[in-house]
Amino acid sequence: MKKGVFIVLEGPDRSGKSTQAALLRKWLEERGREVLVTREPGGTYLSEKIRKILLDPKSNIEPMTELFLYETSRVKHTLEKIIPALKAGKVIISDRYTLSTTAYQGYGRGLDLKTVETLNRIATLDLKPDLTIVFDMPDRIFSQRERLRSGRDRIERAPDAFRRRVNRAYKRLARRPGVARVDAGRSIDEIQAEVRALAAKALRG
Ligand SMILES: Nc1ncnc2c1ncn2[C@@H]1O[C@H](COP(=O)(O)OP(=O)(O)OP(=O)(O)O)[C@@H](O)[C@H]1O
Ligand SMILES: [Mg+2]
Repeated sequence: MKKGVFIVLEGPDRSGKSTQAALLRKWLEERGREVLVTREPGGTYLSEKIRKILLDPKSNIEPMTELFLYETSRVKHTLEKIIPALKAGKVIISDRYTLSTTAYQGYGRGLDLKTVETLNRIATLDLKPDLTIVFDMPDRIFSQRERLRSGRDRIERAPDAFRRRVNRAYKRLARRPGVARVDAGRSIDEIQAEVRALAAKALRG
């Protein structure tokens, strides 16, 4: 059986993660790989329920509660989705993972980074991705890419200063080992070409 490969797509809101995930899935499937596209928070029955709570503009959630909700969703997602798919030899493309929590709850909300990273490790049973791609997006692009399907969710309603802290955090996190930075301010096709090259390298091991 083929070896399972775990790829994570990261970056600010509207940086193109879902768009690139769908294109990458198609490309990998055409090459005979079984692919699981999933997302955080979400990806399981329980985790999607938690996602609804987290994104509901009516939820009043202080930062530490927010952190635990993300991590709770993550434990279930890791156990129920990622680990079984890896064992089955699939390529997993996860739209967000631990780096999101470091960026949003750590750098964005200002929670202690050590606490965030400890909880990240516990919630994932220390499972590390084979490749994390950060879509690095200039701040101004957020408002240019308005959502078609719905209004702004609770996280997207956060003040601009929060968004800038998150974007800055991603630039910093993109320098970590195992993390690749991709300039998300270009065309969908240009970005996808780079994503495919990085994925192909991760698949070679
Ligand atoms: N490279 C690009 N250039 C211009 N528009 C883009 C590009 N990539 C994606 N878009 C558009 O920007 C919007 C956001 O893209 P997408 O939903 O893929 O981002 P996302 O990172 O998944 O966002 P979210 O964090 O809100 O889920 C969509 O309308 C999409 O069609
Ligand atoms: Mg998305």
